[in-house]
Amino acid sequence: MKKIIIALVMVSLSGLVSASMKLHLDEANIDLHDKASLQRGAKLFVNYCLNCHSAAYMRYNRAGKDLGISDKLVKENLVFSDAKVGDLMKVAMTVEDGASWFGTSPPDLSVMARAKGAGSEGANWLYTYFRSFYVDESRPFGVNNTVFKDVGMPHVLWELQGMQKLLNAEEVKHGATPEFALVSTGSMTAEEYDVAARDLTNFMVYMGEPSQLKRRSVGVWVLLFLVFFFFVSYALKKEYWKDIH
Ligand code: HEC
Repeated sequence: MKKIIIALVMVSLSGLVSASMKLHLDEANIDLHDKASLQRGAKLFVNYCLNCHSAAYMRYNRAGKDLGISDKLVKENLVFSDAKVGDLMKVAMTVEDGASWFGTSPPDLSVMARAKGAGSEGANWLYTYFRSFYVDESRPFGVNNTVFKDVGMPHVLWELQGMQKLLNAEEVKHGATPEFALVSTGSMTAEEYDVAARDLTNFMVYMGEPSQLKRRSVGVWVLLFLVFFFFVSYALKKEYWKDIH
């Protein structure tokens, strides 16, 4: 009995510790039905991410079709390499190059939103990650990230966001919400950059499970059918039993 109690206390204590170490994540509040947002996200993704990362489970024209972009527009706006619209979103860089340039090779991003957590957690992680790069001269690319300590990725969106520094590094180590201040401005305002980070997150969540756009609309019909079927079977039951009572 004693042992069990000790074990239970240990388990709940370790729960407490990991809860207090939990990263601060901002709410992404994405909307998978917002086609304009998904389109802007796709554009950011192919412009800023595909140089290093692949999304090898996603075809350009699949994304185009789901997001309501014609093959012609996909070709003009989304495909920058010599890829064809029906190709997978591959990367020009090899795994070996990636490893030698960055220390670690950039992982495939097809299902990254799901890998980063269930439900909205993955989206919140990505959204916070894109907005949490800060100047850190001790790092090879001069930046660090509050949700990904000692990240091996440069701040690829710095032209948009500008560069920021972390004001409360010590407190953040103990779980405080990070506070940032811009040291150089980018082409976007803070609000515009938040929208861009949300669009990009939105696209990555869609990409993690492209069929979810479809499945949700099918789901509504399934539920409507079930309601309809309930009334039909109820009427039928009444009909069958009416002479028995
Ligand atoms: C210059 C190359 C480069 C570009 C461009 C780039 N990344 Fe990365 N990215 C990396 C590398 C290298 C890593 C691995 C970092 C590590 O493990 O320390 C990484 C890691 C990541 C991770 C974390 C993966 C994990 O395993 O936790 C995410 C998410 C990510 N990148 C998203 C993006 C997105 C979205 C874009 C476009 C806006 C982008 N990256 C553009 C090089 C790049």
